[in-house]
Amino acid sequence: MKTQVNDLAIFGGAPAFAEKLHVGRPNFGERERLIERIDQIIERRWFTNAGPYVQELELRLADFLGVKHCIAMCNATIGLEIAIKALGMKGEVIVPSFTFIATAHAVQWQEIKPVFCDIDPETHNLDPRRVEEMITPQTTGILGVHLWGRPCDVDALSDIAKRHQLSLLFDAAHAFACTHRGRMIGSFGDAEVFSFHATKFFNTFEGGAVTTNDDDLAQKIRWMKNFGFAGYDKVVYIGTNGKMNEVCAAMGLTSLESLEQFIAINRRNYDQYRQELSDIRGVKVINYDDAENNNYQYVVLEIDEAATRVSRDELLQILWAENVIARRYFYPGCHRAEPYRTLYPDSGAHLPVTEEMVTRTLLLPNGNSIGAAEIRGICGVLRFAIEQAGEVNLRLAGESQASVG
Ligand SMILES: Cc1ncc(COP(=O)(O)O)c(C=O)c1O
Repeated sequence: MKTQVNDLAIFGGAPAFAEKLHVGRPNFGERERLIERIDQIIERRWFTNAGPYVQELELRLADFLGVKHCIAMCNATIGLEIAIKALGMKGEVIVPSFTFIATAHAVQWQEIKPVFCDIDPETHNLDPRRVEEMITPQTTGILGVHLWGRPCDVDALSDIAKRHQLSLLFDAAHAFACTHRGRMIGSFGDAEVFSFHATKFFNTFEGGAVTTNDDDLAQKIRWMKNFGFAGYDKVVYIGTNGKMNEVCAAMGLTSLESLEQFIAINRRNYDQYRQELSDIRGVKVINYDDAENNNYQYVVLEIDEAATRVSRDELLQILWAENVIARRYFYPGCHRAEPYRTLYPDSGAHLPVTEEMVTRTLLLPNGNSIGAAEIRGICGVLRFAIEQAGEVNLRLAGESQASVG
């Protein structure tokens, strides 16, 4: 409990937490089940190449997501690259800049130009009106991101893709177990790509999956993720190595058994954050539509500095000193990272909402290593820093003077 500004760790007080609290600290389910499965893998000596656990995971995921094909991958980045190639995208692809850098890299890696498009300030997802303005004769596809697990405006994007004969791919890295209009994310557009990276609430250590209802596309993706092999000695495509291994699939099957519990914990934590932060001026916790299924893994704040009078970056510094490793995803926006800032220096001119949003968002820890006491502590620090904004600012200005002097 902080009662004076000196109690803040940034000014020499004791940190609120003895150990660091991270955004995306890995979840895991039943340790014994995982170890049993790993034992089985060793017994079988079938470690990779579409092993029994990978096959089982693909079937279970396809069933859970209500989609015809699920192709497990070593990670989502390779999944995106393969899906982009299999869809025949080239020239220009429209993507948001307010996303993890892998979305843009998966496009540029294949020498396709990512055309950065602005977002809707409410949903943080591609704004379909802006998408339509960015289409040129070189455009071959749209790559939408269901950021924080909140679905893109799927209907509007599908309509645009259809009218302009563009491929439509979704980066669903955040959106496992989320629905749009009651239907699981995983079967929208031409294909969707999930990430099961360790930081995701459902993880396979490293991993991902491409899902689609298109039989031909699924076949092509299966070949491409296995060097283009369509059988022993028969290579039919350019391919790469995108295979998921058996240990990752064992983790996925084990995580799947605890999925409901993971979501319930995320939701409980998210609800507590919302409640505890609800009356702090200038702090908004982004909303999830309760009529849909959500995974609630991201607790995303928008900080309105005009009201808090402590900037997002100052709050970040204050939290880090308390051992709360909050993150400013996705700062500074892909268009301001290399190679994009050099290759496409004018992209920012079309991105006013993105440029504003990257200065406002702050993500707080969630998952099964966080509980009520931690959340109370984190929210207490934020509340105190904002209530004491005047003195906090004076002290921060003093500290920076001292460090310059
Ligand atoms: C939006 C988005 N796309 C793609 C990725 C890449 O996923 P992976 O780490 O599985 O390659 C991430 C990872 O965090 C992400 O957040």
